[in-house]
This record gives sequence, C-alpha cells and structure tokens, in this order.
Amino acid sequence: MTRPTLMPNAFVPGAVPLAPQDEARIARRARLLGPAYRLFYAEPLHIVRGDGVWLYDRDGRAYLDTYNNVASVGHCHPRVVAAMAAQAGVLATHTRYLHDGILDYAERLLALFPAQLGHVMFTCTGSEANDLALRIARAATGGSGVIVTDNAYHGVTLATAEMSMSMGPAVAPGPTVFPIPAPSIENYPEGIASGFATAVTDACDRMQSQGIKPCALIVDTIFSSDGIRPDPSGFLAPAAAAIRARGGLFIADEVQPGFGRTGGHMWGFQRHGLVPDMVSLGKPMGNGYPMAGLVLQPEILADFGTKSRYFNTFGGNAVAAAVGLAVLDVIQDEGLMQNAATVGATFAQGLRDLSSRHDSIGETRAAGLFLGTDILTDGRPDGAKAGRLVNDLRREGILISATGPQGHILKIRPPLPFSQANVDQFLTTLDSLLAAD
Ligand SMILES: Cc1ncc(COP(=O)(O)O)c(C=O)c1O
Repeated sequence: MTRPTLMPNAFVPGAVPLAPQDEARIARRARLLGPAYRLFYAEPLHIVRGDGVWLYDRDGRAYLDTYNNVASVGHCHPRVVAAMAAQAGVLATHTRYLHDGILDYAERLLALFPAQLGHVMFTCTGSEANDLALRIARAATGGSGVIVTDNAYHGVTLATAEMSMSMGPAVAPGPTVFPIPAPSIENYPEGIASGFATAVTDACDRMQSQGIKPCALIVDTIFSSDGIRPDPSGFLAPAAAAIRARGGLFIADEVQPGFGRTGGHMWGFQRHGLVPDMVSLGKPMGNGYPMAGLVLQPEILADFGTKSRYFNTFGGNAVAAAVGLAVLDVIQDEGLMQNAATVGATFAQGLRDLSSRHDSIGETRAAGLFLGTDILTDGRPDGAKAGRLVNDLRREGILISATGPQGHILKIRPPLPFSQANVDQFLTTLDSLLAAD
C-alpha cells in the first residue's frame, strides 16, 4: 500500500488560484515559518474569530466547525475565557509554590477516573504527556520496546515522533518501536479482540528476538489516525492483558477521544472495560489553552519518583488549573457528554442513511461525536475523492478533514455542543454534493 500525503486535503502551492492577499500571506508564512508547516484545504482559510461551533473568516463568513476537538466545549466559551482571564489577572506561577488551584483541579480530574489511577502529572502538550509516559514506563519495566499501530500518531518530540507511524518512514518507527496492524476486521478476520491481542504478543516475540525487552503498548483509544476504530467495545482488553503478560504497560492515549467526546463515557478506554496503567490527556483539556497531563497508577510512578525529579515550567500553572476546572464545569453543567451520545447517534444514523443512496459512502464507524465514514469508488477506498469532498464541503461552509492510511475516511469530530440542526446542515450539504458528483 502506498502511503498518501500526510494530510489528504492539504494546501498545495500553485494548485488553485488564490486571492492576491492570500498568495502574499502564504509567501510570508513560508519565509518566516519555513517549509515544515502545512495548511488545511486547497483554498486555505483565514479565520479571525470563533464562537461555539462556528468559525468566521476575515469577510465575516461563518463556517460550521465539524472538526475541532480542541475547542471541545465550543470556541471561546465565555466561562472558560472568564476563568482564564480572572486567574491571569491574579497569579500565573508554576507548581513549585503551594497553590490550591492545581490541587482542586487534580482532585476533580482524578475523581473522573477509576480509583486505581491515583496520580496526575501536568504537561503543556499531548506529546509531552506521551513522552513522559514513555520515560516512566521505561523506569517501571526496565524495557524499551514499544508497540504502536500502523498509522498511529502520538506527538512531535523525538520519542513520540518515532512512535508516530503516520509521519512516514523518514520519522517512524524508531529502533525500539514495533508497529502492528490497526484493529479492523480486514486486518483481523479471525476477530478483532483476539487478533489484536495476538499481534501484541507477536510483536513482543519480535522485539525479544532482537534482545529488546517489552516496555509498553500505547494506543489512541479511538484509533483516530488509523481510521476511527471504536468497535466492538471491549476489544482492547485482551491486548492490554497481552502486553502485561510480557512485563509491559498499557498506555491509553486519550488526547483525541477524552473529555466526554465518545458519549457513553468520559474516556475512550472505558468502552473497553479495562483500567490502563497510564492515560495521556491533551487537546480538549484546556479548550484551546495549552494544557495536557498524564494520569497514572501510583505503583508505576514510585521508582521514577524517587530517582527523577519532575518540573514542567508551564505544565499545571495556576491559569491552567483555573481553565481546566472551568472546562469540567461546562462539560457537566451543559450535559455535553450526553449531547455527544444523543447527537452523535443521529449523526451516525444520518451518514448510514446516506450510504444507502450514494455508492461512494461506505461504512460509518462512530462513538459519540467522533465519526469516521469511508469514501469508496467501486467499493474500494478512494482518498482522492475524500480529499475533494473535504474541499467541496469547505467551499459550502463546513469544515472537516480526512484520515486513515489511504486518506479515504472522512473524519468528523465537532465541538461537543453540536446540535441536531448542525447535523442536518452537514447531512443535507453532503447529500447534495454527492448527488452532483
Ligand atoms: C492521539 C494523539 N496523541 C498525541 C498527540 C500530540 O498532542 P500535541 O499536539 O498536543 O502535542 C496528538 C495530536 O494530534 C494526537 O492526536
């Protein structure tokens, strides 16, 4: 299988004529930021404002944001912004002073996890959280071999980039990283749960034959970059048992599905009936304020804690604590997890209904407001068509992206206050685009 561009709908310079002011802005970006950055969409968007599920461009045109799991409780939510501003106006220091904010937040956050997960450490990004998880896992197990999925993404640090197969062969896998196929029925026709667990055991065999001791299995529990793989619920438990049987740990990367998005639960791992050794958090945690963290079982941290000291200048600062508390309040007070469950269910059903009328719409896989829909031509994955649809939707004022190793899966992950009217707008627009195709 050939791996497509990393972002199927990325802007390609020169491919589409743009307004002169955008050409100038893009040239300025390239001059100042260098060549590694990418822009979404054939016609890049110049967004100047966000509000709830809406983003506004410089001309005041509204776009329905069906993709943003960072501003998860809604863009610029007034309660989050107010908490941020209030704390920033009083004190913004780090965790080396006594401060109740971080303790109040830690208590509220940990209460949302199974009792075995008793500590939380704070970082600024999901990459840092996964990097820290890896350091702790190495200390706890004495191993270094890490198992990831075939198209995983876990971050930008050296260690996490080497675990991010979706970055391509120039970056991953690192020398102690062992990829296994994503949990789909195509990859494991014998059954996803048993097949995936056997793949973990086989990867342990491979690393041990090279003298590498198992350290961890880390997965995004919704398998977002692998094409969104939530089902059957429970399939992850045997894989977690398989890595533990070889002396390694199970790390749940909740950077994408965490904080209520999957509807039935606060965390993606909960749909699998297991308790991870460590759980990394990020994106929606601060609704746009850069905060992330690692929740873990105390026994795992004991050795690391005596031999290493941990300090992250901005991680867990007083403003982050205030923001984090406000985000949890909003999720609870506005019933956003329940909204993800109910609106997500009708959204998934609507996409399945569309597939009965349009051959190019294949399977929809979903948990709450995290949805993936296959785009096909003659029954086969069509990444180019998915990329076209993403760009067509953008032209119609709706923002999504595409994912998966072949880039053919529409990735739909709106802010959690998404309404039934928002769903209807999306489905009607997609329907008419497909009818015109
Ligand atoms: C599953 C997953 N893990 C980790 C990360 C890294 O998070 P950050 O970009 O905050 O470093 C991402 C970011 O996209 C992610 O999707």
